[in-house]
Amino acid sequence: MCTPTALTALQKAEEIEKLINKSHEAKSFAYCPYSKFPVGAALLTEDGQVFTGCNIENACFTVGVCAERAAIHKAISEGFRKFKAIVISSDKSDNFIAPCGACRQVMREFGTKWEVYLTKPDKSYKTMTVEELLPMSFGPQDLPTKSRRM
Ligand code: THU
Repeated sequence: MCTPTALTALQKAEEIEKLINKSHEAKSFAYCPYSKFPVGAALLTEDGQVFTGCNIENACFTVGVCAERAAIHKAISEGFRKFKAIVISSDKSDNFIAPCGACRQVMREFGTKWEVYLTKPDKSYKTMTVEELLPMSFGPQDLPTKSRRM
């Protein structure tokens, strides 16, 4: 028999699989001629919208952007600031793809409790919260209230 909790778990598994697929699709758009290391991300907002991103490199190496930040910036620029989860995918199969420090800090700006799914190409994953990925972080609450009016 299917209990309501089991159904919710199934729905969650399906939702995660969809996000993993979307992050892989986004990875196929990566512009990474220098590293040849494509990365994709799929960001789920609290109200169920999905924003994807890929890494976008540049001949001036330091201005390249990671997949996670591309997705978060897309969401923010369209008015979404509350996030449930982000899935990250790459072609790296020996370990789960982990976000860089800069991306962890950008995630943290929008909360510490949401979920980050680190995946492998076979779609296996490991979940961590933003807080687990960036403990004892510096965030908006650490600034005087006057500086965070927007
Ligand atoms: N990269 C991401 O897009 N996300 C990660 O989580 C790790 C690294 C990108 C940055 C650069 O374009 C390439 O992967 C190699 O570092």
